Amino acid sequence: MARKEENIIKEKDLVLVYLDEKRQFLVQVVSGLKLSTDHGNLDLGEIIGKPFGLVGKTHLERDFYCLKPSTADLMMKVRRTTTIVYPKDLGYLLLETAVGPGSRVIELGTGSGALTLVLAKLVAPEGVVYSYDRREDFIENAKKNIERVGYAHNVEFSCVDVAEHGFRHTDVDAVFVDVPEPWAIVPKASEALKGGHHLVSWSPNVEQVKRTVETLESHNFKRTKVKEIIERELLVRLQGVRPRERGITHTAYLIRAQKINAARINSKS
Ligand SMILES: C[S@@+](CC[C@H](N)C(=O)[O-])C[C@H]1O[C@@H](n2cnc3c(N)ncnc32)[C@H](O)[C@@H]1O
Repeated sequence: MARKEENIIKEKDLVLVYLDEKRQFLVQVVSGLKLSTDHGNLDLGEIIGKPFGLVGKTHLERDFYCLKPSTADLMMKVRRTTTIVYPKDLGYLLLETAVGPGSRVIELGTGSGALTLVLAKLVAPEGVVYSYDRREDFIENAKKNIERVGYAHNVEFSCVDVAEHGFRHTDVDAVFVDVPEPWAIVPKASEALKGGHHLVSWSPNVEQVKRTVETLESHNFKRTKVKEIIERELLVRLQGVRPRERGITHTAYLIRAQKINAARINSKS
């Protein structure tokens, strides 16, 4: 029977402290530390031992709420050194792969580690993410982001220029590619990936997509599809319900494809 997890905030837990839409903070709870906001301060030690969902008051008598962070919160609140993958795009692309607990997957590039942390959470407790980047400083920052959410033991980092040297790991269950030149990675990904399994890739520009799809086709990938996920938030207010006027209008075009083996069989009948 599945273990029932206690809904109590413990020392070092990540908590989303929410005051309002403009004031939401992903904090690691440590006794003795304070969170300072323009609506007042709160003592993080005082929320330890209390349940998630707690309502409290800052020293300026403003309400704050202690919420469980979603996976999207964990992604969006990483310390960024690069652009990151967005939840709307990753949600779709993850469902286009067969990745789950125990999977071994490759990710290129590590960047800020936003994708790394979601993959690590998904493959845990036994699986592993092999995360590659050519920038050691980006890997160092991403490591800290992953350690903060508690999945460091599910990630192995490699500092390599993959276009030049390829991947060190083979027989993986999926390859996730988020670099400016994905077409240069396709042949390397094909060597690393299990037959029949998935390569997914993100690109902001149509020219990148065209070149990547052509390379996938010439390297025996099938079921290639390209999509764009358009997200629109609705404002639900007394004065009227309508879409928000501003927001992120474009992130990336999303490619998914599956690897075909070189060897073939011929049907006898
Ligand atoms: C857009 S960022 C990846 C962001 C990441 N997906 C995230 O969600 O945080 C692209 C990264 O790819 C790395 N990169 C680009 N080309 C590379 C290559 N040929 N080999 C290794 N890393 C590469 C860059 O250094 C950069 O960190």
